[in-house]
Amino acid sequence: MFNIIICKNYEEVSAEAFKVLKEVVVKNETPVLGLATGSSPIGLYKNIQADHKKGYSYSKCITFNLDEYIGIDKNHEQSYWTFMHENLFNHLDVKEENINIPDGNSDNPKQACLDYEEKLNKYEVDLQVLGIGSNGHIGFNEPGTAFDSKTQIVELDEQTRKDNARFFDSIDDVPTHSITMGIESITRAKKIVVIATGENKADAVYGMIKGPVTTDLPASILQRHDNVVVILDNDAASKL
Ligand code: F6R
Repeated sequence: MFNIIICKNYEEVSAEAFKVLKEVVVKNETPVLGLATGSSPIGLYKNIQADHKKGYSYSKCITFNLDEYIGIDKNHEQSYWTFMHENLFNHLDVKEENINIPDGNSDNPKQACLDYEEKLNKYEVDLQVLGIGSNGHIGFNEPGTAFDSKTQIVELDEQTRKDNARFFDSIDDVPTHSITMGIESITRAKKIVVIATGENKADAVYGMIKGPVTTDLPASILQRHDNVVVILDNDAASKL
């Protein structure tokens, strides 16, 4: 079931997403948060930072990130480990041992996936933050991924590599594979908030909410989840 909130700009989108997250954080003794990288949640993370600056402690939070590139060091400027530390964790009091990000630089990425899934299974994610790819991916689960997938190694789709090339010197530098939580791992969360802005997300947003539930558009599985908040700007909502 979707609760759809349409906002006039990214600032409002981020403020609404923060309201959803804060409610979950306040309500739970040890909040477990599923987090995403990318441009969509940056405003949300700024709001969290501002809240912490005002004195609210996030020290009880346990976090699990959706994904990480394979083959780049965690200290690489484009790793998701670096992204999360620069955009959120360096500014909060979340304990480093409570931060979970898939190990994209493991000698044995298959084992790293199993270990991540095992750890994730020990918790129940109270809120999963998601962005959506222009092709409808969630995490790095590209079109065609099975709905019962667990944390896994995936090859990035050409569209996703093009979308992410803006962060690298050239498309050739964009990694070809990543570790991602699977679709089942993601949808086990008790509540999900999807953030999408911009016209290039309008088709994917339409498919997620109004299209058939199909592995061709991974986010469409969210139609079967009973607690999803979708926060959009007018452009991302333009096809609804
Ligand atoms: C990021 C992730 C991806 C992004 C999606 C949207 O951890 O898993 O699914 O959420 O690619 O990216 P942005 O927000 O940059 O448009």
